[in-house]
Amino acid sequence: MALTTRLTQRLGLAHPIVSAPMAFAAGGRLAAAVTAAGGLGLIGGGYGDKDWLTRELAAAGSARIGCGFITWSLAKQPELLHLVLARKPAAVFLSFGDPVPFVDSIKAAGAAVMCQVQTRRDAAHALDCGADIVVAQGAEAGGHGEKRATLTLVPEVADLIAARAPDTLLLAAGGIGDGRGLAAALMLGADGVLVGSRLWASTEANVSQAMHAAALAATGDDTVRSQVMDLARKLDWPPRFTARVLRNAYIERWHGREAELMAVADEEAAKYRAAWAAGDPVNSNTFVGEVAGLIRTIEPAATIVTHMVAEAEACLAHGARLTV
Ligand SMILES: Cc1cc2nc3c(=O)[nH]c(=O)nc-3n(C[C@H](O)[C@H](O)[C@H](O)COP(=O)(O)O)c2cc1C
Repeated sequence: MALTTRLTQRLGLAHPIVSAPMAFAAGGRLAAAVTAAGGLGLIGGGYGDKDWLTRELAAAGSARIGCGFITWSLAKQPELLHLVLARKPAAVFLSFGDPVPFVDSIKAAGAAVMCQVQTRRDAAHALDCGADIVVAQGAEAGGHGEKRATLTLVPEVADLIAARAPDTLLLAAGGIGDGRGLAAALMLGADGVLVGSRLWASTEANVSQAMHAAALAATGDDTVRSQVMDLARKLDWPPRFTARVLRNAYIERWHGREAELMAVADEEAAKYRAAWAAGDPVNSNTFVGEVAGLIRTIEPAATIVTHMVAEAEACLAHGARLTV
């Protein structure tokens, strides 16, 4: 049995799994490993560091991969998109901002336009922009996102797509950490899933051992959505977005005291960035979603993808038996 969906057919994949373009964590090695395992790997172009991007695109070798950008940040240095398009990516992923300025060049380069959205309103805008693939991201997700839950956002966007642009594909994102999540997402109307946190917990991800250990010790109860990390890093995030991280002493100290943090931001930013660069999960933050409660081991991406698909197949076969 294999999971064949419109996504696998359209993009020529073995499995309906795309790895999330996680800033810093998803480099060329992880993206190439996910593609080699039969999914589609995306490099996390994040805030846009030209040297990092050049290095990670090279690290992916000749693998067929894509790349993601934080859209409001890409708008400040649009030339990075051309760096990526020159490599003929399978897809370019845009999230957290207006995709309009970038859609035409991505399409002209022959890459699929993937727009991650957090609301039905933004999904409608993505369709207006001509997105090839809409990614509906629920609040369970690790990293940045908003408030809607995956369980209701995905079918609502599926209905919107069916009514307005039925050729557009839909991925579910946020909280998908095993085959149960993959099977459920397909039942909600998605053509595939975007997996972040579970592949963050892989041997190929650029993540410190200490942060991996912190996530292994955590349950889904131990994460929180906050703006503290962005204020501490002096990043210019639109206020509607928060990020999900593991609770720690840093969060306990500043969450709810954001105005006080801003007052000492210069001093804090230097300390925070140093701790972050050292992979320190105590004095900076571990970006991971509620999926933390489903992560028991750090494994190669291929093992994670293979297990996820096998478990989803078993779930779907079991589900079919329930109707008899
Ligand atoms: C460590 C980490 C970093 C992330 N960085 C980005 C990013 O730079 N750009 C982006 O569009 N999404 C980013 N995300 C969110 C993912 O695109 C995706 O929506 C999310 O990981 C899906 O939920 P999950 O973590 O439960 O799998 C990040 C997620 C994580 C866990």
